[in-house]
Amino acid sequence: MIQIENLTYSYDQKTVLKNLNLTIPDRMKIGIIGESGSGKTTLIKLISGLYEVQQGQIIAEGKMSVVMQGNKLFPFTIRENITCGHEISENQIWEAVRIAQLEEWVKSIPDGIDTFTGVRGDNVSGGQAQRICIARAIAQNPQILILDEATSALDMETSAHLIEALQNWWKERTVISIAHRKEALDFCDKIYRLEEGVLC
Ligand SMILES: Nc1ncnc2c1ncn2[C@@H]1O[C@H](COP(=O)(O)OP(=O)(O)O)[C@@H](O)[C@H]1O
Ligand SMILES: [Mg+2]
Repeated sequence: MIQIENLTYSYDQKTVLKNLNLTIPDRMKIGIIGESGSGKTTLIKLISGLYEVQQGQIIAEGKMSVVMQGNKLFPFTIRENITCGHEISENQIWEAVRIAQLEEWVKSIPDGIDTFTGVRGDNVSGGQAQRICIARAIAQNPQILILDEATSALDMETSAHLIEALQNWWKERTVISIAHRKEALDFCDKIYRLEEGVLC
């Protein structure tokens, strides 16, 4: 379960989150929309512990994987970008590759999953990089998956296939997904809008 109580967060003089409350029961899928600059990424950084809470409290139990907005690849292979040095079985790696809609592409390139992604991920497209980041999150086998505009570079069709493939995988997991297109959140049990520092 994730429980957020009276969360207030400011950058210098600018208050972005104001007494925000949110309770997410286990296995619930939550969507968050809101204008650019409304504080969605700030909220995710607080939930995932990247930012320290200033006021209020956040209780989050369970292993968490976060696909950050604009997530970058490391200058390594696709496989290494997925495992990130963790002991992950071949089966689990390939399950993540399949769910993230990477299988067809990975199998079609000469070096396959051992392909170097480039110094700044420049050997792969933006959509492929996003899907590698999603595969990385899945392969860590988290109880909680957080996606911050993680499918923004995917076309509608790939995005739909991805969500379909995730249906079974995330049955037993909790999901928080931020997206611009509301259609990308059709799978959610509940969708909130972040506006003026609160969720409504
Ligand atoms: N590191 C930072 N320092 C100062 N202001 C920031 C910082 N990060 C974000 N902001 C500001 O906080 C507000 C919320 O940003 P953000 O959480 O990224 O919104 P969203 O993800 O909804 O677009 C914006 O006005 C943004 O300019
Ligand atoms: Mg953002």
